[in-house]
Amino acid sequence: MVPDSSPSADVASRRPELYAALAAADRWLDSASTRRVPASTDSSQVARSFAEVLPPQGQPATDVIGELAAAVEPGLLASASPRFFGWVIGGTLPAALAADWLVTAWDQNAGMRGATPGVVAAEDAAARWALAALGLPSGAGVGFVTGATMANFTGIAAARDTLLASMGWDLDQHGLRGAPELPVLAGAQRHSSIDLALRYLGLGRPVEIPADRQGRMRADALASALADIDGPAIVCAQAGNIHSGAFDPFGELAELAHARGGWLHVDGAFGLWAAASPELAGLVGGLSAADSWATDAHKTLNTPYDAGIAIVRDPTALTRAFGHHADYLLAGVLPDPHETVPEMSRRARGVPVWAALRALGRDGLAALVLGMTTAARRLADGLAALPGVEVLNDVVYTQLTMALRDDDATAETLARILAEGVAHPSGSRWQGRAVIRFSVSNHATDAAAIDETVAAVRRALPS
Ligand SMILES: Cc1ncc(COP(=O)(O)O)c(C=O)c1O
Repeated sequence: MVPDSSPSADVASRRPELYAALAAADRWLDSASTRRVPASTDSSQVARSFAEVLPPQGQPATDVIGELAAAVEPGLLASASPRFFGWVIGGTLPAALAADWLVTAWDQNAGMRGATPGVVAAEDAAARWALAALGLPSGAGVGFVTGATMANFTGIAAARDTLLASMGWDLDQHGLRGAPELPVLAGAQRHSSIDLALRYLGLGRPVEIPADRQGRMRADALASALADIDGPAIVCAQAGNIHSGAFDPFGELAELAHARGGWLHVDGAFGLWAAASPELAGLVGGLSAADSWATDAHKTLNTPYDAGIAIVRDPTALTRAFGHHADYLLAGVLPDPHETVPEMSRRARGVPVWAALRALGRDGLAALVLGMTTAARRLADGLAALPGVEVLNDVVYTQLTMALRDDDATAETLARILAEGVAHPSGSRWQGRAVIRFSVSNHATDAAAIDETVAAVRRALPS
């Protein structure tokens, strides 16, 4: 008989390593809003804490956890801080974090429905809820992958295989050698993970479609590029430009792609979630007309790493790309999760997605996304009022890009912000200039955190 789950009084003594990990996690989370945001040391310093050669003797699990936490903590980036704005890295909701711990303790291989039905059912619910929240077709196929890079790969793989099949090409049999031309077109300001996905898929560099000032792909430019192409093409659009947060005109792009039997894929790593807020949904007009979508849960939704979601309108396109059978696997009536993603064995990373959505509810999810956008707008107002600071983008969503009069002044200001460590934006180049980027991606970023950040930027400006 398996005992029920009532807590046992001596669990701390039976599993001291888990308590050691909880204590270290608690210490870390408690310090996240008060400590320096950037890591206090570099990887070569941290490496000195670890033996060069694996010691011959092991040690108790609690000591392992103590040694690990002591060595690694100085090298941790406080991305849980409400004043962290670097790259596009989300915070973590408490329910999602706790659920992630359970996923690790349960250690289910979530690839086979029949073998691990508990977590597969929770992932099915998370997929259903996410599709509804994002306004995407309820019958779409969903795969839980490591992040938006793999979600882009997964969606574009489904596109490649479907379009080549529509041209009568048997990819399984012949591979890509001698295959019909399959052009890919993408906006000039696409995320580099699109290029990476195309490289994995043997599709080469995309035809680059010019973007407007905010980084949106221009529909008129796509129309003229498609006019030069015979047959179907894959068009890769973007929901959320990393510098401006801008959204491509999906409805027009879908019409153009579909007019020639093509496919529209949308990279919405952080931007797809705008659809969950009634106030912001206008940004993603026409989104549901696409054929596949990629997003992250570990960005705007605030689950821990690693959680990406690949969505394909036609679920059979997903299983055409990734489905396979082997005698030793179970075969069920419904597709198994491993048939919708590039990997076979994986953790149940959809479970923290379930927990984040369940903790928020529909209204909480809408408030989360709108709250990040409101914080970004407050930041824009505060920064634009500082002497010499120029906010370069229309702050329609969670991203803000600023610059000073010249590249050196911008780089020096960023260096001073990071050296002080109260706030953490990150650097980039945009519109031909060195810039400082702020990505508001943490549920904990409130008005006070924004005001402290504006003050930190003011202190860092050239005198
Ligand atoms: C627009 C966009 N697409 C794709 C990615 C890649 O996502 P991931 O790092 O989760 O693979 C990012 C990462 O920031 C992104 O901003």
